[in-house]
Amino acid sequence: TITPVLLCGGSGTRLWPLSRKSYPKQFVPLVGEETLFQASAKRLAGQDNGLDFSAPMVLTNSDFRFIVTEQLQAIGIDPGAILIEPEGRNTAPAILAAALRVMDTDPEAVMLVAPSDHVVPDAAAFHAAIQAGLPAVEAGDLVTFGITPTRPETGYGYLELSAQPEGSAPVKLSKFVEKPDAEKASAMLDAGNYLWNAGIFLFKAKDIVAAFETFCPDLVGPVQAAVDEAKTDLGFLRLAPEAWSKAEDISIDYAVMEKAPNLSVVPFTGGWSDLGGWDAVWREAGPDANGVVTSGEATAIDCTNTLLRSDSDNLEVVGIGLDNVMAIAMNDAVLVADMSRAQDVKKAVDALKKKK
Ligand code: GDD
Ligand code: MG
Repeated sequence: TITPVLLCGGSGTRLWPLSRKSYPKQFVPLVGEETLFQASAKRLAGQDNGLDFSAPMVLTNSDFRFIVTEQLQAIGIDPGAILIEPEGRNTAPAILAAALRVMDTDPEAVMLVAPSDHVVPDAAAFHAAIQAGLPAVEAGDLVTFGITPTRPETGYGYLELSAQPEGSAPVKLSKFVEKPDAEKASAMLDAGNYLWNAGIFLFKAKDIVAAFETFCPDLVGPVQAAVDEAKTDLGFLRLAPEAWSKAEDISIDYAVMEKAPNLSVVPFTGGWSDLGGWDAVWREAGPDANGVVTSGEATAIDCTNTLLRSDSDNLEVVGIGLDNVMAIAMNDAVLVADMSRAQDVKKAVDALKKKK
């Protein structure tokens, strides 16, 4: 069996104003009817995909706990455990807590750690990729999933292949480079022997714990204590706040992946998108021949490469003669920005925070 571990503690500020601190992007229907979290949970459930998933472990924070239970219930999935992080300390402590928890029952258990804010349209291809990764996991590797890079993206991790991939067989990595600067990203794109890290990981509980012990030993004490002293509360497992506050705020990519030697990648060509900004939502929604996407009560007249979206029940959005613009209207906020500034929406959120 494989234990799915769903991460959904992020705040998704680059998708403001739809994604809010109290209701971040993984919990809103961004593309299609389901939320990204629901789609992720469904993709990693059941046995009729040849993979035998056990009930998922969900890691989130206190604010989202009822959203999580409601959204799982709506799709008929029973969570195995919902771990509540007293505060967001990034993915390394969260994943370590999950692994330590799994270790208690079975150190050999295989975990599939996945973000809940990605779009993976071809579930069957994804299941095949997981299957393909299992032999490397058996051999003790930490397995990543690699996406063919298409632009010098600086927001992703890059996986250096030690050999040419043959089909979907796992390939040993010679290096993991998290979020390179623009120059390095361009160089790696040109080199041709790098894949993007999809941010999805497959490993045995004992192997990831061992990697933390070796490469990020200071994290283990506080996180182990937070797990040991955790309290059950209405079906949630609340990690102990005091111990948790001593855990370093660091992502798994920096804490472990950049350092561990036992990494493999399964090349994944089934389609993947990290809806990291409105430009990605625009791309994923399928722009028309003019590059226009409208959603909700929105009308585009003579526009090109434009996203017009109303998530309000009483606001019409109309664009005339726009190029490379995104406009997103909610009842209480409107964002209008140059499409190429999608990553800067974070700055808007920071600016608003300061105003309050
Ligand atoms: N439970 C929990 N707690 N989840 C968290 C926390 C936390 O403190 N912080 C982040 N997450 C969740 C986010 O909601 C998201 O689903 C996932 O973990 C990854 O975090 P991001 O903050 O979105 O990471 P990233 O996109 O900058 O980078 C990662 O993903 C890229 C691909 O999307 C890295 O793994 C990169 O190497 C990778 O390319
Ligand atoms: Mg992300």
